Amino acid sequence: MRVVSGIQPTGNLHLGNYLGAIRRWVRMQHEMECLIFLADLHSLSEHIPAAERRRNVHEMAASLIACGIDPEIAVLYNQARIPAHAELCWLLNGTARMGWLNRMTQWKDKAGKNREGASVALFDYPVLQAADVLLYQATHVPVGEDQKQHLELARDIAQKFNTDYGVELFILPEPLIGETAARIMSLRDGNAKMSKSDPSDMSRVNLGDDSDTIAQKIRKAKTDPEPLPDNVDALAGRPEALNLVTIYAALTDRSSQSVLDDFAGKGFGAFKPALADLVVETLAPIRARLQDFDAHPEALEAILEKGSAKAAALAAPTLERAYRAMGLR
Ligand code: TRP
Repeated sequence: MRVVSGIQPTGNLHLGNYLGAIRRWVRMQHEMECLIFLADLHSLSEHIPAAERRRNVHEMAASLIACGIDPEIAVLYNQARIPAHAELCWLLNGTARMGWLNRMTQWKDKAGKNREGASVALFDYPVLQAADVLLYQATHVPVGEDQKQHLELARDIAQKFNTDYGVELFILPEPLIGETAARIMSLRDGNAKMSKSDPSDMSRVNLGDDSDTIAQKIRKAKTDPEPLPDNVDALAGRPEALNLVTIYAALTDRSSQSVLDDFAGKGFGAFKPALADLVVETLAPIRARLQDFDAHPEALEAILEKGSAKAAALAAPTLERAYRAMGLR
């Protein structure tokens, strides 16, 4: 089994990112061969200044390592260091169909009414994503609901390429459906996802927040006046209460029901301090590692350089075979 997964580089990661995708990868790296990369080439689909892009890639890489991705175990790199991603994308552009890309819901959502003004990179985004995984002969790709369609497209492209050129070059990657990642919601609104773009910093716990800030954010989190119930069904219609219980459960690797077994009948005056302690305890070592990287940015460069060299070596044979299959070499 070989897993390949990418993440869009953004700065300012928060508890929702950690308990969602990142922790899943941290566990996966011990169970199978994992290649994890920062999708910096994908970030060209929207314009941002160079300095911001550079900072995003650094912050994301530092956060992943701080959260437990071990670059000695998983192969960790950023796309842009490996020309093979862009090269294979171009080769696959001959195979992908306009009609297929036009049906992508992410394209439709992001381009909205302004298709004429959208970048070609936004339209071609799924083909680059196909290249990302086909390049490494990935057997599995961990996908959330929003990326399923892109993975299916990668399979369609792989199959058509193999058929058109009469080769058995690309492996058709399977989705890796894991335990459903905890959906962590805003601390100010239990119906909105915790998000780095929420204008209120009180809505999220950032990985870099210090312990006092974390405790304050949990203390001020929106709740309701009722005590906690003794079963999960009774949290229906209480999105803020449900969210805090979900966070507690995720941090302790327990079910929400087992958390309620402990706290049934207690109010938030008792629950919030317990939750705050847990979040502080979990994030303190992560924040410390982030500060180390702030002090030694060159360490991060070296890690990404090394990871990229490993990935480039894994990618080279498949890229060469693709060139040959197409009569380009
Ligand atoms: N599109 C993915 C996302 O937004 C990121 C991504 C790029 C990716 N290339 C990938 C994910 C390859 C898995 C495999 O989340």
